[in-house]
Amino acid sequence: MNSNNEESDATLVKVSFVLNGKQTEIKVKPWETALTVLREQLGLTGTKEGCGIGECGACTILVDGRAVDSCLLLAPQLDGRDVQTVEGLGSATAESEGVLHPLQEAFISHGAVQCGFCTPGVLMSAKALLDQNPSPGREEIIQTLSGNLCRCTGYIQILDAVEQAAKDLRETKPHKG
Ligand code: FES
Ligand code: FES
Repeated sequence: MNSNNEESDATLVKVSFVLNGKQTEIKVKPWETALTVLREQLGLTGTKEGCGIGECGACTILVDGRAVDSCLLLAPQLDGRDVQTVEGLGSATAESEGVLHPLQEAFISHGAVQCGFCTPGVLMSAKALLDQNPSPGREEIIQTLSGNLCRCTGYIQILDAVEQAAKDLRETKPHKG
């Protein structure tokens, strides 16, 4: 006879994916969002929940290199994917502070972070863009970030920071993340 625990276990779905470079296996409820699982099960609270309905971009992560609203993605859809969250930017680890990604450096130097709530999502959208196109024009950056709402900065500093990071990435050294 099944216990309640066995019954609830039977509803769980095994999900296996690469998360910030590490093979990861978890069990999730089929109806949970990727955002909930990242934050509550995996403890990656850098990814934020703003609207929960795909309109603010605060929850943006990279899935197979594409920027995705994790509030609109079911956790089982992560299976077999390569996933990056803001915690995977740069080379910081639990053991060391590591090195910031050029985008993170530029956001700091341009004052593109105020309350910071939108920042992880903006960084991930910008990373997806720069990975695809190392030399985006201002209009392309604006277009790319149009799904990421920021209530604080007025956007100019963010756009300047992404342009700066693109320049730094073109001119400089290899980096991690
Ligand atoms: S929380 Fe996902 S788009 Fe707003
Ligand atoms: S820095 Fe506050 S919402 Fe963007």
